[in-house]
Amino acid sequence: MSYMTHQSTIKPLSVNDLALMKQQGEKISCLTAYDASFSALIDKVGIDVMLVGDSLGMVIQGHDTTLPVTISNMVYHTRCVSQARRRAFVIADMPFMSYCTPVIAAKNAAKLMQQGGAQMIKLEGSHVEVVSFLVNQGIPVCGHLGLLPQKINQLGRYKVQGRESTEAVQIIDDAHQLQQAGASLLVLECVPADLAREISMQLRIPVIGIGAGVNCDGQVLVLHDMLDIGILKRPRFSKNFMQEATTIESAIDAYHQAVKQSRFPTTEHSF
Ligand code: KIV
Repeated sequence: MSYMTHQSTIKPLSVNDLALMKQQGEKISCLTAYDASFSALIDKVGIDVMLVGDSLGMVIQGHDTTLPVTISNMVYHTRCVSQARRRAFVIADMPFMSYCTPVIAAKNAAKLMQQGGAQMIKLEGSHVEVVSFLVNQGIPVCGHLGLLPQKINQLGRYKVQGRESTEAVQIIDDAHQLQQAGASLLVLECVPADLAREISMQLRIPVIGIGAGVNCDGQVLVLHDMLDIGILKRPRFSKNFMQEATTIESAIDAYHQAVKQSRFPTTEHSF
């Protein structure tokens, strides 16, 4: 019975808790998750946010890109993750072409929230009109700027974005526009650390970096990269936390502590 009492005292974090963490200067730890077992473990360690990323197309389904991932795939994995968590905030990715108009985006975001149990959805790029429409329907949105993996066929390869000053100015402007449209969070992927620091300072909303240096408000990594169990080469900005760990749980905990204490990423993992 005491177990039941204990369970009921743990509440999932809310979007307000994440905003407060930024205001209080507490770093936000985030990891991707795709199934119930890892969800329970990541949650137990105390990671703040679990992202059901469309990276599942690569690390779970074995594709070369995230493009084949469907909304049904995302709903299924989001449900697996949200069922097993107790405290962590759950964000689900909108997959390729699932947000090409505001109405299509709203229908798909509703599936991720109603059937999947997501608390927020994430979409790539500066789709200000879509973001504003979703926010007006009561759907919390996380933006995603910098390297946009769903644009791989336009980019040609996965590479650092925002090195040129015109590109950097565009990313800063897009970040402000997403915040203005009502986004509550922003992921910045593969951008120079100085640019990410500037955006994190300028924005009111928390900025979560991946390959974006230590001065973001939080960090996210793909689970399979940081456990070194991926089938693809681990990107330079990630780190194998299993190297100095004896269990998966202690590796996830080492990552969590390193993010909280601003010990990850180092310059070795930044651009
Ligand atoms: O799909 C994903 O895992 C992501 C992270 C890389 C941020 O979007």
